[in-house]
Formats: sequence, C-alpha cells, structure tokens
Amino acid sequence: MNRILICGANGLLGQRLSLLLSTQTDYEVLNTSIERSFVFDNMLFDYNQLDLTNRSDVKSLVSSFQPDVIFNAAAATNVDWCESHREETWKINVTAVENLIDGARKTRAKIIHISSDYVFDGKNGPYDEEAKPYPIGYYGKSKLASENALRSSELPYVILRTNVLYGSGIGIKENFALWVVNSLKSGKQINVVDDQIGNPTYAGDLALAMIKSFELKRSGIFHVGGGEQLSRYDFALKAAEIFGLDPSLIKRIKTSDLKQASPRPMLSGFITLKAETQLGMHFLTVSEGLKLLKHELQHISKN
Ligand SMILES: NC(=O)c1ccc[n+]([C@@H]2O[C@H](COP(=O)([O-])OP(=O)(O)OC[C@H]3O[C@@H](n4cnc5c(N)ncnc54)[C@H](OP(=O)(O)O)[C@@H]3O)[C@@H](O)[C@H]2O)c1
Repeated sequence: MNRILICGANGLLGQRLSLLLSTQTDYEVLNTSIERSFVFDNMLFDYNQLDLTNRSDVKSLVSSFQPDVIFNAAAATNVDWCESHREETWKINVTAVENLIDGARKTRAKIIHISSDYVFDGKNGPYDEEAKPYPIGYYGKSKLASENALRSSELPYVILRTNVLYGSGIGIKENFALWVVNSLKSGKQINVVDDQIGNPTYAGDLALAMIKSFELKRSGIFHVGGGEQLSRYDFALKAAEIFGLDPSLIKRIKTSDLKQASPRPMLSGFITLKAETQLGMHFLTVSEGLKLLKHELQHISKN
C-alpha cells in the first residue's frame, strides 16, 4: 500500500486532494497542515499538525511516516502580501520545499509540488512547459526558487504549474470566483480587470492531475489550466450568468487602476497539451467548473 503525505491539507487544493484520496482504498494517507486541527472529521482522516518551515519537525514526521509520495499543496498564496513580506514568503514557499527535500532524501519519496503562472512575465502567454520563466513579482520569484530546489535535488519530482485556481472548501481563503459570487450575492458592486488573461483552473482538476502524475509514474513539469482562455472580467460575467446574479454589478477596469503592490503577468495562462496527453486529463471549461462550484456551495450551505 502506498503511503501519501499531504502538506497544506487545510487549503483549497489540499482539501480537494484529501477528499479524492479518501475514496481510494489502496493508499494510506496522512494529512498535515499548519493548523492544530483538520477541517474534516478526525475520526475519518488521519491528521498531524506540521509547520513545513520547521526543518526538524518535517524531518521527523517524514522519517516516521515513510511516505512514498509527498503532495505539497502548502504555500503563501496572497501575491500582494508576499511582495511586502519577503522573508516569511521565502520561508513558506522555498525553505519549506527544501525541508521536504531534506526529509525525503532518506526514503527517496517522490515530491509532487505546485507552482504558478507567476513564474512568467505575462508578455506572451499562454505558455507551454518549454517557455522560459521570468518572474516579475516576489511571489513568482519564490515559486521559481521552489521549482529550482526540486529540479536540482536529484529526487523524483513532478511540478504542476497552475493559474487562477478556484473552488470551494471549508474555511478557505476567498479565491477569485468565490469573491465574485459572494460579492454579487450581497448586491455589492465589484471592479474587475479586463486585461489579465488566463485559463482558470478548477481545484478538483488540479488535485486529480497530481494524483494521476503519481499513479502514471510521470516526472518533470506539467502545465495545468482550464479548457478556456479568458479575462478576469469575462470570467466574472460567466459566474454571474451561471449563478443567476446581476452582471451590471461588475464594472470593467484596467489592472493599472488597482495600484496593486505586486505586478501581475497580464497575458498568461497555459497550453495544457502535455498534461492532457501524458496524464490523460480533460480540463473543465469555465462554465463546467462554475456549475460544479454552484452545486458544491449549495451542498455546503445545506450542511
Ligand atoms: N490560488 C491561485 O490562484 C493559485 C494560482 C497558481 C498557483 N497556486 C498554487 O496552488 C497551490 C495551492 O494553492 P491554494 O489556493 O490551495 O492555497 P491555500 O488555500 O492558501 O492553501 C495553502 C495552505 O497551506 C497552508 N500553509 C501555509 N504555510 C504553511 C506552513 N508553513 N506549513 C504548512 N502549511 C502551511 C495554509 O495555511 P494558512 O491558510 O493558515 O496560511 C493553507 O491551508 C499553492 O502552491 C499555490 O501557490 C495558486
């Protein structure tokens, strides 16, 4: 039986990974995250608190659990916060990965890690896996450094780069789709940029791609993104349509109007042919993903 260690299990992606793996009988899964307790019932899921920035804790947990594979869904993900909290960002996004590498060396566990389209400058997306990274903000720099740590580790690894990740979860941070839906539901006007382009990724698809990359024994870099390239503004309009909300509350603006602390890759997104062919993935379109999100939110509000 393969042993799987999930890091960052309380986050959007981590919860999804945990749920998908909980339905499979051929894995022994240990969920970990920085918080004291897991969002799901401890009776059904094995959980250990683990701060990935603590080298000795990571080492001792990895050597006692002896995972075959480590799924790393933990990260500092608030791009503007990262710009002004560089030391903390480096610890969570880079030192943590170095700690996992260090811990995995003895058992030679495979590390399956998540990176971002922010490793690119956004001048000529969508990008394939051969494109040369050139991060323009600190978050992207830290994600690229985490990739480089893995690539030079001589351990088996997979890096899945993703963009505009969305989905539901318990107590998660508000992602872009949730922000749009929650704002429109409460009748709030929102300003949305029409000049940042990407292919939004449904979190369930990314979790599935991670699992498939392990099961199919793949290695290297894969680009993961939804089946549609569009602007944030068009994504928000689509959300209004699917959720039956008022689209006139969505005001079209430019990125330069926002004066954000960190620069954004503008023309971004991914070519996902490699993941489709080598992982057998079929990525959801925005309409399909938003319909699933609507269903999930109805379910969460009922319980
Ligand atoms: N969201 C996007 O649009 C996007 C786009 C491209 C790539 N990504 C990447 O996708 C991956 C998953 O993102 P996500 O949206 O699922 O993020 P998320 O919801 O913020 O989840 C990350 C989890 O990691 C935890 N964590 C933070 N520091 C930790 C530490 N030192 N030790 C252990 N756990 C720690 C967080 O806990 P706290 O909440 O308590 O900090 C959180 O539960 C990340 O690698 C991210 O960089 C995301």
